[in-house]
Amino acid sequence: MPALTATAPAKIILFGEHAVVYGHPAIAVPINQLRARASITPAPRAASGSVRIQAPAVALDAELHELETTHPIRIILERVAEQLSIGHVPACHVRLTTTIPIAAGMGSGAAASVALIRAWSSFLGQPLPDRQVNELAYEIEKIYHGTPSGIDNTVITYNQPIYYRRGQAIQTFQPGSPITLLIADSGQPARTAETVGQVRQGWQRQPELYEPIFEEIGAIVVAAREQLGKGNLTEIGRLMDANQALLARLGVSSAGLEALILSARQAGALGAKLTGGGGGGNMIALIDPQDRERVSAALTGAGATGVLVADIVPQG
Ligand code: PMV
Repeated sequence: MPALTATAPAKIILFGEHAVVYGHPAIAVPINQLRARASITPAPRAASGSVRIQAPAVALDAELHELETTHPIRIILERVAEQLSIGHVPACHVRLTTTIPIAAGMGSGAAASVALIRAWSSFLGQPLPDRQVNELAYEIEKIYHGTPSGIDNTVITYNQPIYYRRGQAIQTFQPGSPITLLIADSGQPARTAETVGQVRQGWQRQPELYEPIFEEIGAIVVAAREQLGKGNLTEIGRLMDANQALLARLGVSSAGLEALILSARQAGALGAKLTGGGGGGNMIALIDPQDRERVSAALTGAGATGVLVADIVPQG
């Protein structure tokens, strides 16, 4: 049995986070320069059935049977073996590494799940098709936060820009022209489970306040898709700003994110917003590539702990 490695990209939500949980569309793109990696190596000298798991990013070094039965890694390894009707797995060493910042709204959990599901099913001799990879990764997302929309696992599994609506067929798309984004980390962890819970509570208490906001976000996403297709950067930037104002009204922004967003706009970004669950984590700024140094310096000056450039380029 040969050693096997699979990787999966990070992601960002360009438009529509939170409202997507309530059935509105959202747009997400993979970020391939950041990746989670799962490597599985046979361990012929280890005890029969031994599965040693190492994930240095979360300080994990344990045998599979030592993990809680609710641990995402344990669930993945057991479910995949079950789906493939493999009762006894060969002794091996599973290593999970990642360059995706954790709890940053960039899909680190979903990427780790997708990489592990692919590496493990291939190692067991029957690589699972995308649809099944996506379904299992979605089950795992539910452990991280109770009511995920499924957008993270989907964009990461299919590794294409997606226009996503819960319960509908996956639509991939390509931007009409290259888009340059700066992704800046507020230095505070994203609080996705918390912000998703707060929005749900607010919506349950005052649906008349929340539903129009979700609707407006949904309309922005529809407009954004059209403008992305046309490559109209000015309009895409304006829509990002409008989406951010609505996210702030939902209460999922933070002082740190707002400072970064303001500094990016003042330094000439075409638009800026938080990305993902919010409460911390990352923001994104749409820029003209020639403004990269200036906006990047402004973000660092406003407290960003890391700034990354991502080019979303139309494929083939
Ligand atoms: O923080 P992230 O990357 O897990 O993104 C969460 C996006 C939400 O729309 C807030 C929740 C969801 O499940 O879609």
